[in-house]
Amino acid sequence: MAFKKTAETLPKGAHTLGRDYYVNPEILQKEYENLFLNNWICAGRSLDLAENGQYKVINIDTESVIVIRDDNGNLKAHFNVCRHRGTRICKNETGQFSKSIQCGYHGWTYDLKGKLIGAPHMDAVDGFNKKDYPLHSIALAEWEGFIFINLSDEPKDFESVFAPLKDRFSPWNISDLIVMETKEYHVKGNWKLVIQNFCECYHCPILHPELAAIHNYMGGRNDLHEGPFLGGYMDFNDDKDSITTSGELCCPPLNGVKDENLNRVYYYAIAPNMLLSLHPEYVMYHTVWPDGVDKCKVTCSWLFAKDVIASGKYNTKDAVDFWDMTNKQDWYISELSQLGIQSKKYSPAPYSGQESLLAAFDQYYLDKINKK
Ligand code: FES
Ligand SMILES: [Fe+2]
Repeated sequence: MAFKKTAETLPKGAHTLGRDYYVNPEILQKEYENLFLNNWICAGRSLDLAENGQYKVINIDTESVIVIRDDNGNLKAHFNVCRHRGTRICKNETGQFSKSIQCGYHGWTYDLKGKLIGAPHMDAVDGFNKKDYPLHSIALAEWEGFIFINLSDEPKDFESVFAPLKDRFSPWNISDLIVMETKEYHVKGNWKLVIQNFCECYHCPILHPELAAIHNYMGGRNDLHEGPFLGGYMDFNDDKDSITTSGELCCPPLNGVKDENLNRVYYYAIAPNMLLSLHPEYVMYHTVWPDGVDKCKVTCSWLFAKDVIASGKYNTKDAVDFWDMTNKQDWYISELSQLGIQSKKYSPAPYSGQESLLAAFDQYYLDKINKK
């Protein structure tokens, strides 16, 4: 959504991606293999699964993952694949198991940690040992109250991948915040259009007059400009205090947010599927999920301090409504982009100086996609 970037830091000759990257199913396949199934991806908030046995299912390409809070209160992720004849076990998007997970075909049963604890009539099978058939597990990490999963067989260490973000967001204390509201959007555009659109505010004066009245599209700086994490901040105009319909704070600023952070919004893309926006009094995050080459699913959640939500006396809707409107403006233009890019007459064109984060995203993306 943001970011001034000075022209001199734009890589020489940086152009938009070619048409194929938005329309070719083979490239989408590469994206699944090299980005979504081989990286840490955001799978929501730890508190989405507050109680033992609560689960959510994440479907991505041909894979399906059960993310669950086990009976010790720890989050785990398992492939949603029965170890007997491979059947997908869990069909619901969310739910709660009491003590075990049972396959609906022949009743093989797993505990919440994924261990096989029941396999009818298999005792009679020579050499069969239940301990050899747990659900396949998936790497999971928690960061700032978010769940990340990595479906790779050899996942890179989460801590080292996320080292550039260490302590960067501590003033917002994000792990203590609670989701007030989540909206789901279905966008008829390639998933990268959503990320790229988020990474610039060149479009703000035309597409978002309301947002442009809150922060000037030239009034920011990037502080992360290469690799999987990209973003920076934008200062509010003098007569504005936050990004809300009224332009005022919709509740008191978060405890740790002080000084210049009271006058700014920070926007970060956390590749491949998360967008994080930090305001003085609330935090918003998006997740972006490809759904074919020309569609994607986007979720947007608004997080507030626990006492703000509990008191019920603040107009948090002021923030939700503003961004819901702005999101829809962004999806609308992303859908038009998809339609135009599909034309045989679309060809890459130079990025402006305000779009250097897109050039950086494309660079990161191409490096990943072109890896064998
Ligand atoms: S396939 Fe799951 S129990 Fe047979
Ligand atoms: Fe926008």
